Formats: sequence, structure tokens, C-alpha cells
Amino acid sequence: MKNAKIAAFASHSPEKVVSNEELSRLVDTTDEWIQTRSGIRSRRISSSESENSSGLATQVALALFEKSGVKPEEIDAIVVTTVTPDMNTPSTAALVQRNIGAVNAGMCFDVNAACAGFVYGMSVGEKLISSGKHKKVLVLSAEVLSKATDWLDRSTCVLLADGAGGVLLTEGDEKSFLAEDFKSDGNKIDILHGGNFHVSNPWCEAPQDFKLYIRMKGREVFDFALKEMTKSINRLIEEAKASVNDVKYFVVHQANARIIQAAAKKLGVAQDRFYVNMHEYGNTSSASIPIALSDMIKKGLIKSETGDKIVISGFGAGMTVGSMLIAL
Ligand code: UT7
Repeated sequence: MKNAKIAAFASHSPEKVVSNEELSRLVDTTDEWIQTRSGIRSRRISSSESENSSGLATQVALALFEKSGVKPEEIDAIVVTTVTPDMNTPSTAALVQRNIGAVNAGMCFDVNAACAGFVYGMSVGEKLISSGKHKKVLVLSAEVLSKATDWLDRSTCVLLADGAGGVLLTEGDEKSFLAEDFKSDGNKIDILHGGNFHVSNPWCEAPQDFKLYIRMKGREVFDFALKEMTKSINRLIEEAKASVNDVKYFVVHQANARIIQAAAKKLGVAQDRFYVNMHEYGNTSSASIPIALSDMIKKGLIKSETGDKIVISGFGAGMTVGSMLIAL
């Protein structure tokens, strides 16, 4: 079995910054409510077709090539995680492959595990490398949640945002992916879902109540996230026969600052070991963890080839939860 390692990190966000104040002119809300309930101050929103999921993911891939010196022809597989693909088919990964000229990437496909998608994508990417059949794999997370947002629904439109991030996985000498934990609960579909497709054909008339937008029972999602993410991290740490004290940073889905504060408290970990950046990016679903990782690299908080251990953990519709312990 081969070892996988993260060789480079990158992110790319749309140009347009939308403040809480601007949203308070669209729906009945205030900057104060949004900040105290979620921690979000502003977010990036796509304002052109080139800032669709494939376009954002393409920019991330190009940045990864620049940082690593790897060429597009060397890529063996592309995994894109998204709940907002440009189209149902082909996959966003196929569109990225075309855009970057990764002509030798045999496997190009999308993963949808909602906001936990990056962690699921990382697990898939690691398996592709450890199989020995793929040497260089892109795991890209790209979301344009603004197109699945009901801009009249104040309970979601102040939270959801657009952005992309990702990593280049290559073969490494040491074991870097130390442990992983995943859980899904399909019984909780009603608390977070969106973009329904109905059966519609000459023999079956689609119902009129199309539900194109993301709908969320915020409090129930909050409770699920706190409970299941902390349980998942505890199982992960136990599986790795490690302690939370061995972990330099916890980089979790950036949905709500209060979920992160409560999770840190529950795990007995100082708040400053949980990275927080949703105040400037909002909730970018599966892209939030790789955007955070890329920010942390830029700020020098984490570094490749140090052996420092980080936990990544995400939760989202499904309901899904996934965590990984990674040595950088
Ligand atoms: O990434 C996917 C995973 N998603 C999440 O993790 C989200 C998890 N949930 C949350 O982050 C929080 O539950 C929210 C930020 C969505 C809401 O915070 P909350 O403290 O749970 O508030 P709430 O839903 O209990 O709503 C409190 C009040 C309600 O009014 P009433 O019924 O008490 O009169 C809402 O109608 O706040 C009202 N409200 C708003 N008020 C001003 C809801 N949205 C807004 C708003 N501005 N934007």
C-alpha cells in the first residue's frame, strides 16, 4: 500500500463581497443578529458565469499547479466535491479536466456529501493513491450556494455563500492519513435539503411545489452538528490511539462560530486551536474546510512536511459527518 500526502493547498473566492448590512436591505435582518447568531460578517457571492463551481475549482487547480510545480498532464484523477454542480452531467470534475488540460486523468467524478464533502473527498483521494494506481490526485471542493439560496428566506440567505478550495495529493514516504471516521443518517433528510427533482415525463406530471432552494431547520442542524461532530472526533482520536492534545489545529466546517465554540468546550480543547474564518467567507458548504486550510498555510499557522497533526471534520445534509486525523 502506498502512502498519500498533501503536497499543496489552495483556495479561490468570487470577487464580490456582500456585507450583512447589504443583506439587511434585502430581508428583515440586522448585522447584529447575523453576527451574534452565526459569527458571519460578510461573504463572497459569485457575480458572473465564470464564477460557477467549475470555474472556481479550475482556479484552485491552477493555483495548486503553481505552488507544486506539478503539470496538468501529470494528474491521474480529479475528485470534485459539490452540492452545486454547473450541470447534472457531465460532472464538475470533467469540466475542470477540460479547463486545465488534465488529459491523463483517468478518473474524474463528483462526490456529494453536502458540507462534509471535502472530508469524504479526501478519503476517496487517499484510497486512490494508496491503491498504487494513481500518483497525483486533485481533491477540489467548489460551491455556488447562492444559486440554491432562496434570497427571500432570511433564515438561510444570511448564512450561505460561494467559494472553492482544494489540495493536491501525491505519494508520500510516511503515513500521513492516520485515521478517519464517517457516519450518515438518512432518516434526517427533512432537517436540511434542497434542489428536489421530481419525476416528470409524458406519463407522470410533476407536482407544482418545486423545491429548488436549500431549506434548513437551523436549531435541529445545530444540535446534530454539535453532538455528532464531537462524537466523530472522539472516535477518531480513539482509533488513532492519540489524545486531543496531540492535535495542533482542529479545522471544522465553518457553519456557525457558536457550534465551533461549543465543540471546543465539549472536547476540552482551547478555542484558539479551532480555526475560525466564517466571519469573512460565510458558510461555503464543502469548500469551507479547504478554504480554511489554505488561509492557515498563508498565515503560517500550519506548514507542510512538519509532521504537525490536524483534525478536519465536517457535517451537513444527509445527515453526514466525517473526520480525519492527518499528519502534515
Ligand atoms: O452547513 C450546513 C449546516 N448548517 C448549519 O450548521 C446551521 C446550523 N444552525 C445555525 O447555525 C443556527 O441555528 C442559525 C444561525 C441558523 C439560527 O440561530 P438560532 O439561534 O438557532 O436561531 P433560531 O433558528 O432559533 O431563530 C431565532 C429567531 C426566530 O424568531 P422567533 O421565532 O424566535 O420569533 C427566527 O425567525 O430568529 C429569527 N430569525 C432571524 N431574525 C433576524 C431567523 N433568521 C433571522 C435573521 N434575522 N436572518
